[in-house]
Amino acid sequence: MHTRKNVKNLTAQEKKRLVDALLAVKKGGVYDEYVRIHHHYFVADGEPGKRFGHMAPSFFPWHRQMLISFENELRKVDDSVTLPYWDWTLDQGSGGTPPSPYTPDFLGGNGREGDHQVMDGPFAGRSGDWPITVQVTDDTFLMRDFGAFAGGVTLPSPADLEAAMADPVYDTYPYDSTISTRGFRNQAEGWTVGANVGWTLHNRVHAWVGGQMTGGTSPNDPTFWLHHAFIDLLWARWQKRHPAEPPYLPEQPIASGDPQYGRVVSLDERLEPWGVSPAQMLDHTRFYTYA
Ligand code: CU
Ligand code: CU
Repeated sequence: MHTRKNVKNLTAQEKKRLVDALLAVKKGGVYDEYVRIHHHYFVADGEPGKRFGHMAPSFFPWHRQMLISFENELRKVDDSVTLPYWDWTLDQGSGGTPPSPYTPDFLGGNGREGDHQVMDGPFAGRSGDWPITVQVTDDTFLMRDFGAFAGGVTLPSPADLEAAMADPVYDTYPYDSTISTRGFRNQAEGWTVGANVGWTLHNRVHAWVGGQMTGGTSPNDPTFWLHHAFIDLLWARWQKRHPAEPPYLPEQPIASGDPQYGRVVSLDERLEPWGVSPAQMLDHTRFYTYA
């Protein structure tokens, strides 16, 4: 059993080993497979087809299995490595200093003015070790543009997060982010939530980082794994806080004739491409723990 740590507590040695493992799986082509899978399963409410990874109840279990599979690839390279989490409500940087992951010895910093190219650290385009090959634009280098999305965006506050964590219901029918205003999953994922229209919580962090993080190919930025490890931890914390509530909804398949029929994954249905069900992903302590 391995332990995922808060990124701010990693030693220099732990950071180096994680970076080396990331570079190794990138070189072998495995990394870009995960970018490709993520992009492929980025189906939205308004599109036809089953929503496995996003804008759907299975947002949490789908990404949990994605992180486990990817973490296993890293651990094949170096079994001391685990995915750290970035608590973006508390670790926000200050006075021009970015949050703790963004140092030259780890994820590198913000992108430069103009083309938003990341210029320092092991994932900078000019390092030659991190070509962006699965892309939606022509840019082949990693980009970031901290806080600039849509004219300016801040990282979510502890109060923003608390509003979602306090909701006792995992998710609400019709599981459509443009209609549902409540539910822990819908609020935490952060699409359109009632009067608070716009990007919140999970989505807001993608937006704040900018560059590749704003789209379906977001795993191109290693930030993705640290961000989603924290999202994963939030599902565990939410379950602990609401022990009498079903940890996942819907428990039964959606009936035929319902507009959401065939579009939402219920508790015992399979999550593509992983082949596991949400029920199998409810308890993270079967796989790892959080420190
Ligand atoms: Cu995703
Ligand atoms: Cu995400």
